[in-house]
Amino acid sequence: MVAVEIKPCVYWAGVNDRSTELFEGLWPIQDVGVSYNSYIIADEKVALIDLVKGIKTDDFLTQIEEIVELTNIDYVIINHMEPDHTGIIKIFLKMVPNITFVGTEKTKQMLEDYYQISTNFMAVKTGDRLNLGNHTLVFYETPFVHWPETMVTWEEQSKILFSCDAFGGFGALRGSIFDDEYDDLGFYIEEALRYYANIVAKFSRFVLKAIDALRNLEIEIIAPSHGLIWRNPKKIIDLYQKWARYASEPAEKGITLIYGSMYGNTEKMMNAIIQGASKSGLPIQVFDVARTDVSYILPFLWKYQGVIIGAPTYETKLFPPMTYVLTMAEYKRIFNKKVARFGSYGWSGGAQRDVETQLEKLKWELTEVFEFQGGPTTTDLAKGEEFGKRFAKLLKDVS
Ligand code: FEO
Repeated sequence: MVAVEIKPCVYWAGVNDRSTELFEGLWPIQDVGVSYNSYIIADEKVALIDLVKGIKTDDFLTQIEEIVELTNIDYVIINHMEPDHTGIIKIFLKMVPNITFVGTEKTKQMLEDYYQISTNFMAVKTGDRLNLGNHTLVFYETPFVHWPETMVTWEEQSKILFSCDAFGGFGALRGSIFDDEYDDLGFYIEEALRYYANIVAKFSRFVLKAIDALRNLEIEIIAPSHGLIWRNPKKIIDLYQKWARYASEPAEKGITLIYGSMYGNTEKMMNAIIQGASKSGLPIQVFDVARTDVSYILPFLWKYQGVIIGAPTYETKLFPPMTYVLTMAEYKRIFNKKVARFGSYGWSGGAQRDVETQLEKLKWELTEVFEFQGGPTTTDLAKGEEFGKRFAKLLKDVS
């Protein structure tokens, strides 16, 4: 992609990554990709806001050179140190040895730790300003959105907020870089929620704090370092605020049913249970935990109030893929859920004990348990349908 002008003298440049399989070595993105957005402000002084991961460096530098000579760049603003935004920094310093890196005091230390760079640095704190000519950058520290050193940069003339990870999403850019040039934002919103649940959720309290701290800023455009540029900034701010609140307030009425089944018995019961639960009209999302990457399960655990866990006992313990999903939910601080659990008892119990240990850590409220011996009988399946119906009603009735 070529560089794109966002406002006079302000440009997008970046890498549209469709080849990395796992973001952070953990989250699958091979089907949808991701973008690392960087921004150029070409004024009397030239600033680059955030860099990119260390891939496709030639393409990125060529984009920049469409706008300015590399050696004319005065500043690189480092909103966030994670290598998806700084991966090319050592090469950059070699090519532009007089560059000044701008970031928080914590960034300074991290530059040394990650890249052994201890020169060319200017530390800023909340409210500090950097004049480029007709444009002025103003910095706001936003720790833990996503790492402790993180900040955002607001430009006074264009009223653009360069937010780095905040308000970002998975999904490589599909041509246009602007939200208002898509009739259907479904793909980007779905991938923004997956990104939120995978990457940002644990830090929701800091997201709310940052949104609150920035509430008086006049923001015309949000330019994050992943995904779309929002010319309707309210849309993505409202979504992020809504998702962040799910960390401490009840989420949407709906059910995530997660199950695992070794020989199909728990699956048979799962089908009976969703037949019962679906009569409520609540949205239900079903995941086989052994076959679905947890990355796709976390967004639904995050956004729905209800969870049904269907997992058998495996060698006196909870079915291992389920243990992993629940552990990741705890890791991402997915709290405040109402839960029902069912499963095949097999030749020994054990799953229930492990579920209870995990639910205690998650602070999830276990409302009902239904276990059956071996394969479900017709009577068991009828009981399962009622179990599903009861749980959905309980969720529906809760205020
Ligand atoms: Fe996009 Fe936290 O890095």
